Amino acid sequence: VGTGMCPFGGTRISGAAGTGPQIDHWWPNRLKVELLHQNPPAANPLRDHDYARAFEALDLEAVKGDIKSFLTSSVSWWPSDYGNYGPQMIRMAWHSAGTYRIADGRGGAGQGMQRFAPINSWWDNGNTDKSRRLLWPIKQRYGAALSWADLMVLTGNCALEIMGFRTFGFGGGRIDAWEPDRSTYWGPEGWDGKPVDEAPHGPKAGHPEEMVNRGLRWQGGPKDATYELDSPLGATHQSLIYVDPEGPNGNGDPLDSARDIRLSFGRMAMNDEETVALIAGGHAFGKSHGMVKADRIGGAPENSPIEAMGLGWHNPEGSGNAEFTMTNGIEGSWTQDPTKWDNSYLENLFRFEWRKTKSPAGSIQWTPVDPDAPKTPDAHVKGRMNPLMMMTSDIALKEDPAYRAVCERFLHDFDAFSDAFARAWFKLTHRDMGPKVRYLGPEVPAEDLIWQDPIPPLDFTPINDDDAARLKTEVLASGLTVTDLVTVAWAAASTHRVSDKRGGANGGRIRLQPQRGWAVNEPERLERVIPKLEEIAERFNAAGNGRHVSFADMVVLAGCAAVEQAARDAGTPVAVPFVAGRRDTTQELTDVEQFNWLQPVSDGFRNYQDDTIDIRVSPEELYLDRAMLLSLSAPEWTVLHGGLKALGLAYGGSRHGILTDRPGVLTNDVFRNLTSMDTVWSPVDGASRIFEGREREGGAPRFTATRCDLVFGSNSQLREIAEVYASDDAGERFVRDFVAAWHKVMMLDRYDVAK
Ligand code: HEM
Repeated sequence: VGTGMCPFGGTRISGAAGTGPQIDHWWPNRLKVELLHQNPPAANPLRDHDYARAFEALDLEAVKGDIKSFLTSSVSWWPSDYGNYGPQMIRMAWHSAGTYRIADGRGGAGQGMQRFAPINSWWDNGNTDKSRRLLWPIKQRYGAALSWADLMVLTGNCALEIMGFRTFGFGGGRIDAWEPDRSTYWGPEGWDGKPVDEAPHGPKAGHPEEMVNRGLRWQGGPKDATYELDSPLGATHQSLIYVDPEGPNGNGDPLDSARDIRLSFGRMAMNDEETVALIAGGHAFGKSHGMVKADRIGGAPENSPIEAMGLGWHNPEGSGNAEFTMTNGIEGSWTQDPTKWDNSYLENLFRFEWRKTKSPAGSIQWTPVDPDAPKTPDAHVKGRMNPLMMMTSDIALKEDPAYRAVCERFLHDFDAFSDAFARAWFKLTHRDMGPKVRYLGPEVPAEDLIWQDPIPPLDFTPINDDDAARLKTEVLASGLTVTDLVTVAWAAASTHRVSDKRGGANGGRIRLQPQRGWAVNEPERLERVIPKLEEIAERFNAAGNGRHVSFADMVVLAGCAAVEQAARDAGTPVAVPFVAGRRDTTQELTDVEQFNWLQPVSDGFRNYQDDTIDIRVSPEELYLDRAMLLSLSAPEWTVLHGGLKALGLAYGGSRHGILTDRPGVLTNDVFRNLTSMDTVWSPVDGASRIFEGREREGGAPRFTATRCDLVFGSNSQLREIAEVYASDDAGERFVRDFVAAWHKVMMLDRYDVAK
């Protein structure tokens, strides 16, 4: 080192950890198994922190008081519009929640993901970096007792309240993530209309010139009358929260805009009434900012110079803020008093004719035709009055007949509008929190809401261990097979997804529509199994011993009994943990349409794929996606796959992936056969989806399998894990790990139980 040599050796360093190219550049199609291990405890500086307890200890009223007094202050580096930060905080909160989409439950306010790429740098999130930074002193004051995710939503509520709106309530309990999410699919297009590979990257990426919404490809392909948004997307363009305010591809057409709004708000489970309430309610406040052309604005936060300290979109014009602010490009306010809750948004929309015009930044917007229409005060320059403004997406609410009908109702009934907006805002900001038992704090509304997938409260004493043992014996003597029992318990529990925490065995919805009719659940099998389990439960409950077994508990217990039986049959007896206390819900408390989103279109655990759907990703990628939604690690996923196949799980009587001669017995045969060189695999269909395994010597057919089976032998990372469970010393480890992973899935939705 003393000689001036580089300490690494040599005189030049051109790479460090992570410098590209890396494996994803060389093999873009490899299965990204490591996505299962995102946001690990090691990345979390608060991993030992009990957030629920810390949050509950807060004086929420005092916290809200702090937030509210901050909202009506102003700082020099980002002065508040109208002396009130409320509107920009409502937009921040709405954008934090608005990424949610019901198809896979991803997005949403739940983990504070607006703090990280790519979301923090979406053009649509312009200047939300300022909103969060303005909140830093409050966050700092409460530290680990108030997550960013909770703070953003709570601040949105406080903002609404100080401007005269009565919110429906607030539930805390959102736990922050600590790294960007690398897995969520946000859409196919690159930026600036270029394919992803050619899309801008490097120092200029994220610059508005390259990120403007116009010129992007439609998520569903070329736009025409039959345009359909690909699943699971919830926004019509990558990098938008929902839709382009200037109309699709900036075309300024309100009816086209209405169609997109319906599509994308629908993907968030909002109906027409809720959609109108949200847009009309939100745009009662604040203003849009478009004083400077987009090409003058600096790069997004992820792309800004290090000295910008995480802030982006540097605006070189004037002070770069206040009356010079440039966020989205449209300029102006919808109402005469943008810091007051009133009905003037709808009144203005309907009282005036609106004509298209352009903002100083060049964006399409609308202005009243009537020169005598009232004006709205400038947000910063005293005495200056500006024309009212509507966006193409606002005019959409007037021109679309169904939206118009809702608007007219709200226009004449401000109380109904206020109530609808309060409820829709609560749903928007709490939609991804799962069951109500997860909500914390004194402002949780008592009323149950259908989108919370309600389950009535526990009003009985659940079974104890002796009862469980007795019931398990009865189940095993009922004539139902291990495969039947495991399949049904799995069907019930594995609907859960950790993204929005919906689904799962609790509630006993496997016997209700729509789950009872889903093809993947094999309704014929359900019709055989459910009545038998109901009968056993009813017999137990009729005996009147003071304890009660719910159907939901019965299904899981039956699965546990079957796994124990299968382990005994393999010569490796094991006790499968069971925690009673699930409750049964009713058909009336189950929104069939909204539950149908949970129906898997592809499920590698059961080798199921819905062939009526045009699926453009490989079955194994969808399988990984499912494993991720069950929060499984790669070893848990692998051991569950091999174990469930050994127990005979396969859709519709197929034997794909059942690589054992003893189905229903909990052996590691599947892994042994998968890793064995005695079997040679070859595709039997043109699409390489189904394979046949023949004996290498002699060529006798042995097994059939799908891609979701073979991936555990072919993918290098999964194969290494499969080898662990295929080894001669694996017996006990295999059974123990399988049971632990099984129990984890059965308990995924038990937010009522400390884990
Ligand atoms: C502002 C678009 C729905 C609340 C804005 C801005 C745009 C926009 C372009 C201006 C941003 C800026 O330049 O500062 C849209 C579109 C929507 C939609 C296209 C759906 C069709 C909503 C909803 C809410 C909301 C559902 C809340 C419930 C707000 C608020 C502002 C705003 C409060 C003012 C922000 C400020 O004063 O700084 N919206 N929005 N918007 N939006 Fe929306």
